[in-house]
Amino acid sequence: MSKLVIRGGNRLHGDVLIQGSKNSALGILVAAALADGESVLENIPRHSDIITMCHILRELGVGVWIDQKGRFHVDGRGLSRDKPSHGLVRKIRASFYVAGLLLARLGTAEVPLPGGCAIGSRPVDYHLRGFEQLGAKVSIEHGFMRAETKGLVGCKLYVNRASVGTTINLILAASLAEGTTIIENAAKEPEVVDLSIYLNTMGAKIRGAGTEVIKIQGVPKLEPAQYGIIADRVEAGTFMIATAAAGGEVTLHSIVPEHLRAPISKLEEAGVQVEAGDSELTVRAAGRLKPVDVETGVYPGFPTDLQQPFVSMLATADGTSVVRETVFSDRFRFVDELVRMGANIKVEQDTAIIRGVPRLTGAPVEMTDLRAGAAMVVAALGAVGESQISAAEMLDRGYEQLHIKQREHGADLEREDDLPESELELSESLSPIEVRG
Ligand code: EPZ
Repeated sequence: MSKLVIRGGNRLHGDVLIQGSKNSALGILVAAALADGESVLENIPRHSDIITMCHILRELGVGVWIDQKGRFHVDGRGLSRDKPSHGLVRKIRASFYVAGLLLARLGTAEVPLPGGCAIGSRPVDYHLRGFEQLGAKVSIEHGFMRAETKGLVGCKLYVNRASVGTTINLILAASLAEGTTIIENAAKEPEVVDLSIYLNTMGAKIRGAGTEVIKIQGVPKLEPAQYGIIADRVEAGTFMIATAAAGGEVTLHSIVPEHLRAPISKLEEAGVQVEAGDSELTVRAAGRLKPVDVETGVYPGFPTDLQQPFVSMLATADGTSVVRETVFSDRFRFVDELVRMGANIKVEQDTAIIRGVPRLTGAPVEMTDLRAGAAMVVAALGAVGESQISAAEMLDRGYEQLHIKQREHGADLEREDDLPESELELSESLSPIEVRG
């Protein structure tokens, strides 16, 4: 177990380099294994979720290693096993992407139903229906999805709800299918676009990514390719919100400001100054913010992954804000922790009513999931006094050294781990992938 100790009240300042996108990297690592050769991937963050995905790929026979420049090498030549272990798959939801990979490459897949953050019911029924429509025989037995096909065949698919994971999984499966697949009501998120650009670099024929209709003309073979993934819009948004809550001036580098249109507009409405360039963005905030109403939605709507830190920020706004969560059914569990810090928030079904208080006060609190962890950090940075946030290892799933980055920019915080650093390196969630070169 890890703990973050934060003494709030310091303003944030300086320049922050934003890392590569976790959710893009998860799909692209799997996509790389579609080729019979070695791809080189740049800007992959070393989160524990990414390391878990690398271990899952290795279990299937895929070669994965990191070179001295931090680039990930993925070699799909050895892909031969169709059954990843339950222990690894249950840790991350994106592990289910290997189902698309296995069906496309081996024609069989036996994949445990995935786990992930506790943010509400997260079924995979759209994925399964898509595989069936592409010609796979699918069943659920003893907690596993078993699927087999003599060869996937392209078809027209309508996904009930624009789902990021389903769109990614079906693109992976359809890239090597015979004929053309059309995905209607596809997710438009930048991570879907990034995956499609990478696959096209490998020789896939995907058109329409970023719109509601994606057309994939299957090809017999994909070639390995070198690719650099996009910046993490959630890490960028978290820094913007943290600066707004704590006050200060921070410039983010290596980002795509266009991916953050909704959060930028809501921050401006709250009275935060945002100045965006081509690949950087400066946030300035001072004094009490104005209340804002927000509804999460699919891209380009307000991202659910920033809802929790945004609620923390609004907890001290000068008035009442209403935040509605439309993507996941249980993403307000962290609110109880904010209330411990003095927030006045009532949750009714999918809506949080936040009556801004002049200040939060530091308290012992817990991270209930990854983005809830970011929310607790935002709250503690702006609070008076010391907060002790337990279960801080949750942050490692999606942020690289967040505590060090925040400290470098003025925050007064430390991380305490039960294990000494050397042993942590060896612990399961952070166990290193071989570094060569
Ligand atoms: C992705 O999850 C992200 N994860 C999530 O990020 C993100 O919050 C979410 O998209 C929405 O943007 C990864 O990319 C690894 P969905 P995903 O399928 O793909 C329902 C983070 O903190 N649904 O778009 O799982 C589902 O229950 C995480 O980084 C079904 O009912 O999200 C949800 O209500 C957490 N059946 C909605 O659709 C299905 O088969 C959207 O989910 C699939 C989804």
